[in-house]
Amino acid sequence: MLVLGIETSCDETGIAVYDAARGLLAHGIHTQTDIHAKFGGVVPDQASRDHVRKIIPMLEAVLNEAGIKGSDLNGIAYTQGPGLSGALLVGAMLARALGFAYGVPTIGVHHLEGHILAPYLEPDPPSFPFLALLVSGGHTELVKVEGVGKYKIIGDTLDDAAGEAFDKTARLLGLGYPGGALLAKFAEQGNPEHFHFPRPMVNRPGLDFSFSGLKTFALHTFEASDKSEQTKADIARAFEDAVVETLVIKCRRALAETHYQRLVIAGGVSANRSLRHALEVMCQKQEVKLYFPRLEFCTDNGAMIAYVGCQRLLAGERDDMNRMQVYPRWGLEEL
Ligand code: KG4
Ligand code: ZN
Repeated sequence: MLVLGIETSCDETGIAVYDAARGLLAHGIHTQTDIHAKFGGVVPDQASRDHVRKIIPMLEAVLNEAGIKGSDLNGIAYTQGPGLSGALLVGAMLARALGFAYGVPTIGVHHLEGHILAPYLEPDPPSFPFLALLVSGGHTELVKVEGVGKYKIIGDTLDDAAGEAFDKTARLLGLGYPGGALLAKFAEQGNPEHFHFPRPMVNRPGLDFSFSGLKTFALHTFEASDKSEQTKADIARAFEDAVVETLVIKCRRALAETHYQRLVIAGGVSANRSLRHALEVMCQKQEVKLYFPRLEFCTDNGAMIAYVGCQRLLAGERDDMNRMQVYPRWGLEEL
């Protein structure tokens, strides 16, 4: 079964072709960073317009690379939510038009399910059940994954998502947008002994997170400092260390509670090297196997959507052709 995947939930246009028998055949990703950087964050209307500009040429390039024609496709998957409504509609409209033109079913995919199952694009994927740490710009969740479509959220953020806290702290330090990767790079020059930031919520039982206090702590530390480049790097380092250690502590706790032996990390923040390293060390000690997708599939991409769409189409699911809808807000447990 040949499935096209379309991702347009936020500021990346992604298209991929996944074959149930042969795996991923081709994919393309275009990031809109340059467009949104000057505004310091994603501008929804600009995002939609750029998806419209990029999506057809990318579709043609990806089909070419896969060596197939559109009429060879057996199904079309697209991100149905959560995300920006205008951006989601671009992908949904294209998917439905292609499905209509080629007479094949379409299927709306949950963006976070895409992230959680992205390690299945790699050789040696995890078997079920596993724990997933989903850390992106909009989400920080610990999820018990018992199978495709069987998700239970056991830890969530009470305020900012981890990626959002990275982005806001990066802005405070004048690092530009998107901040996560820039802050991580800058933190490499920081002295880890200069500042110590709190590890929020680790002294209470439970698996929830809270990151907005850390951002405020960074602000107060910055305002009381000499504001030199070295001090800013030291703040970046202290902030990153605090987020990473907090995530590791909660993962360890969740693994102990669930007795699961596999941990998947997914979402944009899972590209963070310091987090990957700290989780590797913890997992080795706990005799847990750690899985993450290749770097380009940590952030938003069409391949994860094509993969999930393929599983769901194979299970007999498909869109109701009389109704077209996107879900800007959509909980994982509603699946
Ligand atoms: O999954 P994603 O591409 O989009 C969402 O669905 O949100 O995640 C984007 C988030 C941004 O907040 C970005 O700053 C963060 O992931 N991010 C990072 C790194 N790379 C991306 N955060 C920390 N360290 C990184 N290396
Ligand atoms: Zn994402």
